[in-house]
Amino acid sequence: REDGIEAVDIATPNFLHYEATKAALEAGLHVICEKPLFFEVEQGEEIKKLAEEKGKIVCVTYGFSGFEMLQQMRAMVTSGKLGKINMIDLRYAHGFGCDPEGDVKSEGQRWRVDPKKVGRAFVLGDLSTHTYYMSQLICPDQKLKQVLCDRQAFVGSRYPLEDNAYVLMRYEDGAVGRMWCSCVNAGDMSSQHIRIVGSKASLEWNDARPDIVRYQVQGEPEQILYRGMDYLAPEAQEDERLGALHYTGLIESWSNLYGRFAVAMDAKNRGDEETLKNLIYPDLEHGIDGIKWINACAESADKGAVWVDVK
Ligand SMILES: NC(=O)c1ccc[n+]([C@@H]2O[C@H](COP(=O)([O-])OP(=O)(O)OC[C@H]3O[C@@H](n4cnc5c(N)ncnc54)[C@H](O)[C@@H]3O)[C@@H](O)[C@H]2O)c1
Repeated sequence: REDGIEAVDIATPNFLHYEATKAALEAGLHVICEKPLFFEVEQGEEIKKLAEEKGKIVCVTYGFSGFEMLQQMRAMVTSGKLGKINMIDLRYAHGFGCDPEGDVKSEGQRWRVDPKKVGRAFVLGDLSTHTYYMSQLICPDQKLKQVLCDRQAFVGSRYPLEDNAYVLMRYEDGAVGRMWCSCVNAGDMSSQHIRIVGSKASLEWNDARPDIVRYQVQGEPEQILYRGMDYLAPEAQEDERLGALHYTGLIESWSNLYGRFAVAMDAKNRGDEETLKNLIYPDLEHGIDGIKWINACAESADKGAVWVDVK
């Protein structure tokens, strides 16, 4: 395209996804769209046809599915390490919707509890579509056949939408599953759990420690598999960006640090000593402290492990 635009990323409230996706495809652009995609399957089929005609793709931002260890789980499931998959146990249940005030005060929450804007479901769409996709990623051969869902609005004003739901699942090959999704699971701040149970072994992952997968073979000691290690499947290693030892979240830590450096530089430029005094970041003094530390330790060791002054 002459304007250089190749794709559109749609991050509006749910009820706008369909029209925006359609318009972008008609304009000859690839689409990245937030979940849940649209309200009706027919809309999805129509968009599929349009995308094919236009030779474009539509991607959905199930954002938690990029964790490397989920690829590892998929590799282990598809290579038969677990035996036949019998149970798929899923949970995305946090407590951030406990306060009904949020439904009124927060713009981002107001549309989420309005059926015209969010669709037929609240947490089933907002939360569990993520975990459901992640289970499809891990177990690509499991085809869902039936569900039995019980849903509640513990914050009554959300009715007929739900803020809590339990779903039982039946798969075509006889496997079964369950999903708990909730935003009124008071006190739970890390909320996604996935357990895949096979006839020989199980895998378990949760979002509080995304760098590890628990691998449990019946009758054997449990193994903890770590991100970034050579023993992982090639598909998992392909996603590695930090290297073993460095844990997920390190990039955000660096980013926070650079943010503080920028504020400090700006304060210095403006002669704002008050801001500089209150800003906590590793500065020249801390750098010099590091040199003193190394030299004192080395001197102590070289003298035969004796006490030396840090200077
Ligand atoms: N993938 C994820 O992990 C994830 C996380 C949060 C939200 N979401 C999804 O992202 C979407 C937005 O959620 P949110 O929490 O950011 O909501 P939000 O209400 O905080 O933000 C929505 C944004 O859309 C803008 N907007 C509204 N109408 C518009 C229009 N007609 N044209 C252009 N912009 C418009 C609003 O001004 C606002 O900036 C939802 O579909 C939600 O399900 C996905």
